[in-house]
Amino acid sequence: MVNKIPLAKPYVGKEEIKAVSEVIRSGWLSLGPKLTEFENKFAEFIGTKHAIAVNSGTSGLHLCIKALNIKPGDEVITSSFSFVASSNPIILEGGKPVFVDIDERTYNIDPPKIEEAITENTKAIVVVHIFGQPCNMEAIMKVSQEKRIPIIEDACEALGAAFNGKKVGTFGEASVFAFYPNKQITTGEGGIIVTNDDETAAMYRSWRNQGRDDSGEWLNHVRIGYNYRLDELNCAVGLEQLKKVEFILNKRREIADKYTEKLKHIDGIITPYVDPKVEISRWVYYLQAKEGLDRNKILEYLNENGVTSRAYFYPPIHLQPVYKKMFGYVGGELPVTERVSTKGFIVPFFIDMTNKQIDRVCTVIAKAVRWHKR
Ligand SMILES: Cc1ncc(COP(=O)(O)O)c(C=O)c1O
Repeated sequence: MVNKIPLAKPYVGKEEIKAVSEVIRSGWLSLGPKLTEFENKFAEFIGTKHAIAVNSGTSGLHLCIKALNIKPGDEVITSSFSFVASSNPIILEGGKPVFVDIDERTYNIDPPKIEEAITENTKAIVVVHIFGQPCNMEAIMKVSQEKRIPIIEDACEALGAAFNGKKVGTFGEASVFAFYPNKQITTGEGGIIVTNDDETAAMYRSWRNQGRDDSGEWLNHVRIGYNYRLDELNCAVGLEQLKKVEFILNKRREIADKYTEKLKHIDGIITPYVDPKVEISRWVYYLQAKEGLDRNKILEYLNENGVTSRAYFYPPIHLQPVYKKMFGYVGGELPVTERVSTKGFIVPFFIDMTNKQIDRVCTVIAKAVRWHKR
């Protein structure tokens, strides 16, 4: 029995262990100096005035949607080819997600289709930089400015990515990054909102901390809030990860490039396209099975032969059982999203992958295609 190569692995080690131990020894486990330092360093890395750490990417997106002050009937445009957390907060806040189809090559929301979907009820556009490839922010900001509709960036998969040299996270009114262990950097669970707006930054801080204000009074609640705090242990890990971020991002690019070099000639497989205007931040290594090849059979072969792989994102959000039930989607509404989601899959991708492991994954993929075509 061959050892199975995992899909993802966090890049954490002795520095993180030491940092967490120090926090534990200090006895200051929440709302302390590590939180402030992590937020300041993160804001500096992205280039925004504020960073507000929260306990997940989902919590961050929830607060960004909450800040829109949605009323019944309001719509928020987004992409269905994403993780469900891009859209759920819209519903939680009483709005209606309006899904727009994606671009065939980048898998990101397609700007001309955004324009077609705008109505007088459109309150915002949540753009998702899928798999770390920035959306076409030139076209999207043009629409946003012309129609005066705010942008929220779901940058949960795209830490360090840039469009035309400008980092993602700096385009929207507010943007969110996530730190789950499969992300580029991790805090365990965790997320962060970035913004240049002083007023909403103060609201985010209050909401994440049970609606307290900054008076320092522990039992003084000036609005209804949540416990979305990120504790000192998480922040200590995040700080160590930030010290390594450039190394991590470069290494991920290197591994993705190796994969592409080895896989691009395999007939039947589509390797990731990278828009020349972007600097991609590799989150997963994502492949598509070409027409005529059954993605699920390829997956079965890979998983049976020691290469962990998974369909991604399948089903897309609008075809998740709860969305079908709530909104009556039956399939056929978003042709590109639906086609892409039946063809795409991810393969092992983590930064201490050896060349031998990369070779093994590529060999098994080539065999899977040959086996399928026989
Ligand atoms: C595009 C996208 N949005 C939101 C999230 C939610 O982040 P979290 O899992 O930290 O809540 C994720 C995480 O997987 C994601 O990939």
